[in-house]
Amino acid sequence: GKVAVLAGGFSAEREVSLRSGDAVLKGLLEEGVDAHFYDTAEQSLLQLPELGFRRAFIALHGRGGEDGHTQAVLSALQVPYTGSGVMACALAMDKARTKYLWTGMGLPTAASQVVNREQSKTLDYAALLKKLGGKVMVKPSQEGSSVGMAQASDVTVLAQAVTDAARYDDDVLIEQWLPGEEYTVAILGEEALPTIRVRTPHEFYDYAAKYEDNTTEYLCPAGLSEEAEQEVRELALKAFAAVGGSGWGRVDLKQDAQGAMQLLEVNTVPGMTVKSLVPMAAKQQGMSFAQLVVRILADTRE
Ligand code: DAL
Ligand code: MG
Repeated sequence: GKVAVLAGGFSAEREVSLRSGDAVLKGLLEEGVDAHFYDTAEQSLLQLPELGFRRAFIALHGRGGEDGHTQAVLSALQVPYTGSGVMACALAMDKARTKYLWTGMGLPTAASQVVNREQSKTLDYAALLKKLGGKVMVKPSQEGSSVGMAQASDVTVLAQAVTDAARYDDDVLIEQWLPGEEYTVAILGEEALPTIRVRTPHEFYDYAAKYEDNTTEYLCPAGLSEEAEQEVRELALKAFAAVGGSGWGRVDLKQDAQGAMQLLEVNTVPGMTVKSLVPMAAKQQGMSFAQLVVRILADTRE
């Protein structure tokens, strides 16, 4: 039956999603799937059944598409879709609440504090900065692609960064800075794919480093010892299972000053542009982009 590749949408990651959707569509067509591009900002999801779509490949990133809303609508319409369900998507979209969960389970994640817009006006930034080791990352709790993120190591910059992040979300996550290397683990079905190490000359792996620059280096295999590779994959699978993730996804991590892996976040609809990380990890395992999207599509849920 007809497959809708859901892309675009209304989030801050709209442009990235359009690129993911293009690549996914091309891959599915190559494999003979009757797939059609479906920009959810131009056409309502509610029309999917009457237009004859039998399944949906979700290539939407960020609010509205990766956070459980689209998944809930598709469930109600009884259109099977790729990836995680409503609860896992909602939880994983919220970095602060994901960290509460991991911390409660004893999984490693950097020290942090969550402040809402209101609290941010009267916050003792000097005390907070001191408590978190003098250098922090500021993130809107519910965003993607590093939108609204900034690094801060003085009070003025921190206050400005919190104000900026609060434009994207009411909850702002202020997280201890992790000086080590950044890694990501793609999850496909029950399996973790080979770890990728991300190296950027930027202060952190920001939007430009992700999509605009050619200065970012990707290492896959990541250059870890066999034991460390095994450990990070197991940790990623646990972190993904903790939020209730299924089908496919990607877990991001960074090393602390001691070299220990710390969990950053889970993406339930990771980027699928030609430069993206999940396709890179799949390729390392001998799977082409087209084979990857067909495999993800085979795993749809009601
Ligand atoms: N949020 C972007 C699309 C990613 O995680 O790849
Ligand atoms: Mg993300």
